[in-house]
Amino acid sequence: MKQRTLGQARTPAPTQVCALGLGCMGMSEFYGATDDVQSLATLTRALELGVTFLDTADTYGLGHNESLLGRFLKEGGAARRAQVVIATKFGIVRASGQYERRIDNSAAYIRSACDASLQRLGVDCIDLYYCHRRNPEVPVEDLMGTLAELVRAGKVRQLGLSEVSVDTLRKACAVHPVAAVQSEYSLWSREPESGMLQACAELGTTFVAYSPLGRAFLTGTVASATLTETDFRKHNPRFSGAAEAVNRELVDGLRSFADGLGLTNAQVALAWLLAKHSHVVPIPGTRRIAYLEQNVAATDVLLTAAQVSELDRLFDPAKVAGTRYPDAGMVGIE
Ligand SMILES: NC(=O)c1ccc[n+]([C@@H]2O[C@H](COP(=O)([O-])OP(=O)(O)OC[C@H]3O[C@@H](n4cnc5c(N)ncnc54)[C@H](OP(=O)(O)O)[C@@H]3O)[C@@H](O)[C@H]2O)c1
Repeated sequence: MKQRTLGQARTPAPTQVCALGLGCMGMSEFYGATDDVQSLATLTRALELGVTFLDTADTYGLGHNESLLGRFLKEGGAARRAQVVIATKFGIVRASGQYERRIDNSAAYIRSACDASLQRLGVDCIDLYYCHRRNPEVPVEDLMGTLAELVRAGKVRQLGLSEVSVDTLRKACAVHPVAAVQSEYSLWSREPESGMLQACAELGTTFVAYSPLGRAFLTGTVASATLTETDFRKHNPRFSGAAEAVNRELVDGLRSFADGLGLTNAQVALAWLLAKHSHVVPIPGTRRIAYLEQNVAATDVLLTAAQVSELDRLFDPAKVAGTRYPDAGMVGIE
């Protein structure tokens, strides 16, 4: 597996990570029924393939996702722990069964959330700890001060921010190096191209692209009519009504493009991200070994500059219908 640097030169301890990580969220909630046995088998296969950068958060399954990774790590012992780079997040607080959330960035909350994550994961130190969402009532300098204390205490190795603005990133970096910014980035979600990717390159911050497959929509394998009520996508504006039909045409275009190269939509979507910038690390989520293997093969696909431009035009942001989250999901996004 090709490697990319997490944190780059300016962080205290830059780490090499696989060019493609694994998003574990769907193993606990949001995308329909889950199966721990299947998820653990997928995680095992991930390590065999060199996918060692695992992404979770305390809010995924309200602790279930971190506990699942903790079980996976325990089963593999010290050797497995040494092999993986675990990224987790704090800050989104939800009640059981609810999508609505509040954002907590207070020092007391962060300290207790960190201890709870360490316990569920069964590790002494979190490799990369993200603030999942910013609460603007807490100055970013205070937030980073609290996080820097966790680094000094040895509980956290590197720091990250999710869905922040360039301004927040710059202020944060003035307090402590930010190893990674994680935000949504894919063919149909291009916001990071308006300054964030450039700022990351300048500041030595890796850009981790979440939902790189558009929550599976870009793969052409899901339709809202087949999603269950408990599937978060059922109520996602881009999957609904007239917007779905508009976006389906874009995906049909992607299918023609991918067919021409003998690739799947998912592989083209991931290869496009990898081609964009050398400091982008996509973290596609999957519960299935077959998808994982297909996605890993995308790291060997080299798109030409002309092909990247063609995809850029195909998914011109003006052509994409619907917001990327329902209103409740926009809370805390800068
Ligand atoms: N920081 C944040 O706020 C934030 C927000 C959302 C997500 N994330 C992180 O980012 C990760 C990835 O994002 P995501 O899971 O939302 O979206 P995604 O990676 O764009 O899409 C995941 C979906 O695509 C399907 N899939 C994966 N590979 C496929 C393939 N080759 N062909 C067809 N379908 C395929 C998966 O199916 P199966 O699951 O059925 O295999 C799953 O339904 C998450 O797991 C999470 O760790 C972070």
